[in-house]
Amino acid sequence: MIYRHAHFIVATITTAILIVAITDAHKPITSKYTYHQDVYPIFLNQCGGCHSADAVAPMSLLTYEDAYPWAQSIKEEVVNLTMPPWQAEYGFGAFKHEGSLTARQLDIVVEWANGGTPEGITTNHDPGEPKNTWSLGEPTFILEMPEPFSLPADVSEATRHFVMPAAFDGETMIRAVDFRPGTAAIVRSAILYVDLSGEAAALDAADPAPGFDAENPNSLAGAQILTAWLPGQEAIGLDQAGYVVPVGADLVLRLNYKKTWTYEGLEVDDQSLLALYAADPGVARVESIVLQPPTENGSNEGPLVSFSSHLSRDLDLLAILPNLEADALGVQIEAVAINGERTPVIRLASPRPEWRTRYWLDEPLRLTQGTTLEVQAILRSGSAEGNVPVSFTLDLLPVQIPTAEPN
Ligand code: HEC
Repeated sequence: MIYRHAHFIVATITTAILIVAITDAHKPITSKYTYHQDVYPIFLNQCGGCHSADAVAPMSLLTYEDAYPWAQSIKEEVVNLTMPPWQAEYGFGAFKHEGSLTARQLDIVVEWANGGTPEGITTNHDPGEPKNTWSLGEPTFILEMPEPFSLPADVSEATRHFVMPAAFDGETMIRAVDFRPGTAAIVRSAILYVDLSGEAAALDAADPAPGFDAENPNSLAGAQILTAWLPGQEAIGLDQAGYVVPVGADLVLRLNYKKTWTYEGLEVDDQSLLALYAADPGVARVESIVLQPPTENGSNEGPLVSFSSHLSRDLDLLAILPNLEADALGVQIEAVAINGERTPVIRLASPRPEWRTRYWLDEPLRLTQGTTLEVQAILRSGSAEGNVPVSFTLDLLPVQIPTAEPN
């Protein structure tokens, strides 16, 4: 009796698979866009840093066989603007590494997913040898984590900080930072910050394993952040400018580790690398300011919040690092000149705070004295009583006022 029952189930499952197979094969192909000719280049550039073999996302999108079963989910993610996860809205400001898809790229992906996911003419997109060089050239300093860190078998996510072995002779100007994960499949993000308080060194010394566990230690709040790296991003180098690393400061690397299902239950080691590029001591110093809501009337009524900040001198805006919590559903900054003219600075329509990164403006934006930076944010309703979970760290250069030649 039991056996017969089992047979029945097996038979049903087989029929179900057959039906699925048949319907799939007969799904009409209406898309004029194909995987190899139209979709692949988009996946390669906008998704491939994470969705390739052994990278941080759970599946590759770089072969037809791996990608097409995900078509419906891909469509949802791109239409909802949740993938790719770092994205300033296209057309609202212009940035160095555009993460977001253009309207045309969105069209292509959606039509392909809706229209039967045609493969097109099979093409061998040979990625070539993996590049093992630093994209900005030979670094001034390469810093490696002193020892590998082991993510235990029963831990699937961790935020770990490591004090990096930087021994500078004195105050140092850094014009660029690049990062290379030791084990790309588990490193979700990397932040390098400057600790002047000694807190990180003390915490590291107190923990017998390499580094120490902390979500956000005190010294990170307000610290100068030298880089906020996400997988697939190329480093950006400043020209004739740099971030100051004062004498005696510690450089601390904050890594977020997360295993994809392929690594669940396994112990995985990581030993990541940093490349630092020094600038001449005399170059312009980047200043970071935090654009945040006034602490006074902090109560936010309703889901819409706005605040602004007035500039009392001429500045060139280089980059924006959003500091958001999950309650922020959408944020934007506009620059309003004295004459009322508005310039879009940045908009994140579906921000994902766990993918925190710095957005580099394509060209520095000149903000003249008297300009107001206006922030508008939409919050999850009922969130953040008296605490607005939105601020931005802006990297700026003071505009050099030409001085008369001394005689
Ligand atoms: C910065 C890394 C990164 C980039 C770039 C990226 N993804 Fe992802 N993606 C992930 C990770 C990691 C996951 C696993 C889910 C998670 O933990 O957020 C994921 C999950 C997904 C999923 C599965 C969601 C589910 O059903 O579980 C889809 C579909 C997807 N990504 C599509 C894309 C597409 C399409 C692009 C490019 C347009 C893209 N992603 C770019 C990292 C990335």
